Amino acid sequence: MFRRPLIAGNWKMNEDLKGSLSLVRGILGGLNKSRDLPEIMIAPPSVALSVLAEALKGSPVRLGAQNMHWEESGAFTGELSAAQIKDVGCRSVILGHSERRQMFGDTNETVAKKLKAALGAQLQPVVCVGETLDERETQKTWRVLETQIRGALAGFAPADLAALVIAYEPVWAIGTGKTASPEQAEEAHRFIRGQIEKLYDERLSSSVRILYGGSVKPDNIDRLMIEPDIDGALVGGASLKAESFLRIIQFESAGTSS
Ligand code: PGA
Repeated sequence: MFRRPLIAGNWKMNEDLKGSLSLVRGILGGLNKSRDLPEIMIAPPSVALSVLAEALKGSPVRLGAQNMHWEESGAFTGELSAAQIKDVGCRSVILGHSERRQMFGDTNETVAKKLKAALGAQLQPVVCVGETLDERETQKTWRVLETQIRGALAGFAPADLAALVIAYEPVWAIGTGKTASPEQAEEAHRFIRGQIEKLYDERLSSSVRILYGGSVKPDNIDRLMIEPDIDGALVGGASLKAESFLRIIQFESAGTSS
């Protein structure tokens, strides 16, 4: 089944408004529109969302948030709801990033609630999963991935999950310069696809896009994208410079992977 590649940039807590606008202008200005581009998404800090929504109007780049709360409204200081991020122009949202799991208390249970709210608001959810170094070294990778996938994704109807995107981000590869080898990533992606098939069906598992994240750079994207179950990338550090993000977007087999 053809899965359109998706390249997403997670800016984390970087850039002020001026820097955000100039980065977006750099990306838009450098896109080679004559080639078959992958789907492109950027997730800037929430304070820049409404300004960037304006700047991205009519462009092929979709806007995403880095997180959201599952409740519709209320006394949740510092949080944003699905409706609020949608209202400022987001069409996607990253859920359960490992930094949120490690530092801000996200769990499989809260990720499941956020996923339900995101799907209810017709936002494209990008659900992040991945093992720590200790878990990998003690042979717990598959158990951890299974728990994260089941914990976040169980209990939906397969049709509800049509827009779902998963990001496999081994924690030991994030921001460390250590990328999982293409073979390691492919093995994990295949495992995740298998879990989705077990939980739901072959139709959903073969259509869901699974991104790889963790030190994706211009010099490793082409090789990663050759793997049959790697459908794109969630890029942190290298999405903060237009030049490197553009090179990743325009990976060698862009538009031809399936
Ligand atoms: P990195 O971050 O590309 O800087 O490793 C990836 C991520 O955390 O999404």
